Parts: sequence; C-alpha cells; structure tokens
Amino acid sequence: MQADPPAPTTAATPAARLHGRVAAVTGAARGIGWATVEALVAAGATPVLLDRDAATLEKAVARLSQRGVEHLALTLDVTDESAVEAAFMRIAARHGRLDILVNNAGIAIRKPTLELSARDWQAVVDVNLTGVFLCARSAARPMIAAGGGAIVNVASVMGLSGGGLYPNLSYQASKGGVVNLTRALAIEWAAHRIRVNAVAPTWVRTELTRGLFGDPMTLQRILDVTPLGRLAEPADVAAAIVFLASDDAGMITGHTLPVDGGFLAQ
Ligand code: NAI
Repeated sequence: MQADPPAPTTAATPAARLHGRVAAVTGAARGIGWATVEALVAAGATPVLLDRDAATLEKAVARLSQRGVEHLALTLDVTDESAVEAAFMRIAARHGRLDILVNNAGIAIRKPTLELSARDWQAVVDVNLTGVFLCARSAARPMIAAGGGAIVNVASVMGLSGGGLYPNLSYQASKGGVVNLTRALAIEWAAHRIRVNAVAPTWVRTELTRGLFGDPMTLQRILDVTPLGRLAEPADVAAAIVFLASDDAGMITGHTLPVDGGFLAQ
C-alpha cells in the first residue's frame, strides 16, 4: 500500500503564512518589487531588498524603518555576477537562511526591431534573463542546504504572446526565456524541494509603463485587449507572487501564472 502524501503545511491564517521566512526581492525599491515587499511583510516574512538604484532603495528602507519592520537592503546590479554572489553571501551571513527569492528586476527598451541595436538587445537580456539566472543560482545554494525554498520569477504576458500593440522584441524574447527557464529549473531543482514558478503580468501601473499610459490612444488599445477592462496594479501581481511563494502552492512548480485580466484567454 502506498503511504499517504504529507499533509500540507499551510499556516492557519493568511497573515502568518510566511512567518519566519526570509524573502529576497530584486528590483525591490519601487513598482511591483516594492508592492511585493509590502505583501511579503504582511504575510509575516522578513524582506531582503535588492536594487541597483541606491537613492530609491534608501526611500523604501526609510518607509520600512518607520514602521519598525526588520529588513536587510543591499544595492545590487543583478547583471554583475560577482556582486550577486557577494550579496547572497551577505544574506546568508545575516540571516543564515533564504527561503524565498523573487526575481523581479527588469527593464524594457521599446523600439522597432530595425532600430534596435545589439547593445540595446544585450542590455535587456542581461537584466531580464541573465539576472534571473545569476540570482537563482546564488539563492539555490542556501535553499539546498536548508532542504528547500521557493523562487518566483516575474515574466510577462509578453513572454507568452507576440504582443502586437508596439514593437518590444528584446523584452518579449527575454521574458519568453524566463518562462522556459522557470520550467527547466523547476525540474532540475525539484529533488532539492525548491519550487520555481513565475507570474506573467499584463500592463501594470508603474514607472516602467508610465510613458505608454501617457499616450491616450495606447492606453485605450491596452484596455480594449484586457477583458477585465483595467490596468493591473502592483498589488495584483504581488498577491500572486506571495501565493506562489507560500506553502499554499506547495504542489505547484514550473508554472507561469498570468495576472492579466484575461488578456491571454482571448
Ligand atoms: P519599475 O521600473 O517600476 O521597477 C523596476 C525596479 O528594478 C527598479 O527599482 C529598478 O531600479 C530595478 N532594476 C532595474 N534594473 C536592475 C538591475 N540590473 N539590478 C537591480 N535592480 C534593477 O518596473 P516594474 O513595472 O515594477 O517591473 C518589475 C518587473 O515586472 C520587471 O521584470 C518587468 O519586466 C515586469 N513586468 C512589468 C509590467 C508592467 O506593466 N509594469 C508588466 C509585466 C511584467
């Protein structure tokens, strides 16, 4: 007779479901990254904020300090291999563990492909795809030592569709890469009990997209292809990230969860 599977370890209340977990977020200073920090803290986790923008990171840290939230913040460019390794060593030195990594840092250079230089292309791939690889590799070491963990990558609906409203080739290719990196790592690290998932947000109201929404025609076209008829807010994405990072998603790995108001269902 087969043994029963282990019972889910879901905490009793949603507010406490990440209690005692250490959670690192890249691109944490603003936008979706900051909303994710807030949602992780609300779920009881201790956040580690990683961002290359020292000034904005300082403001985020001040907000946490004012509220007495325990945290660690490190200035980090996720494309810098040795800096990534050093940052995760510092996390290990401070906390002795890392339970959750949210690979959120990302950039876009939206240009028609014929005007897209190899340098533009490389800059986007370096942050959006190589940065995810480097941070996941460094985070996996303490996770493996501790017997498991959860990684959530921030992909995009542009990694699952051809887009079509405006050209954005390097972004779409890099996010498509994140979707398949998520599957491959989920399989490779399943034996270590590291779950690897992704979210694929639609257009979210942040600095990254401010220029797009400033053009009323583009904004209307976006709303026209969004069945729920609104832009996403950073908190919409953060809620999905916290779910995938928590034991509530204990049987989910290798999955990319659209947070898209129905965009991909059409
Ligand atoms: P944002 O531009 O508001 O924030 C991005 C943060 O990442 C900034 O604090 C920035 O300093 C940081 N960052 C950028 N490059 C970095 C690097 N090399 N190393 C460390 N930190 C770096 O952008 P937003 O909208 O919050 O985007 C977050 C993630 O969500 C990105 O991966 C983006 O591609 C993705 N996304 C965003 C959507 C949107 O509509 N805003 C839609 C789908 C996905």
